Amino acid sequence: MAQASAFDHSASRQARYDQLDLQCPALLSDADPVANQANFVAMVRMAFGWHWVGFYRVVHGELVLGPFQGPVACTRLFKGKGVCAEAWVRNEAVVVPNVDDYPGHVVCSAESRSELVLPVRDEQGHVHAVFDVDSTAIGDFDQQDADRFQRLIDAVGSCFIDNAKSPHV
Ligand code: SME
Repeated sequence: MAQASAFDHSASRQARYDQLDLQCPALLSDADPVANQANFVAMVRMAFGWHWVGFYRVVHGELVLGPFQGPVACTRLFKGKGVCAEAWVRNEAVVVPNVDDYPGHVVCSAESRSELVLPVRDEQGHVHAVFDVDSTAIGDFDQQDADRFQRLIDAVGSCFIDNAKSPHV
């Protein structure tokens, strides 16, 4: 059973990533990928307090909203438009310091000012979902955030994936 994780909000961002690295393997040990995605979202929101934190899952060639915390969001996203689709298609993290400077940004909440999206991939490198964080502050994410999250997601990523399903890319 998951324990509530206490995060020290006076700690540095790197220290909070260290805490996530320590706590995630135990928290995300369930066989159900939706349960694991939901707890990961909650944990990241507890650690950093960002405006929106959540998953979009690759389903039949579209991105469909998964577990999230924050304001209601777009239910489906499509290839060729937006940050989530770019991270999915390029299979790499996308950092957007200012969403107003990103052509084709999909606005789910007018309060989002910067965004980071990362692919969730299996051992063969196929993308099954993307993990998206939005902040109300401009420039809240940089390459260090992308690297820390990508390392963590690559390490635990299989717990977010329904192994009975092939990626519908
Ligand atoms: N802004 C994203 C859409 C998802 S929301 O931010 C939750 C995009 O451009 O793909």
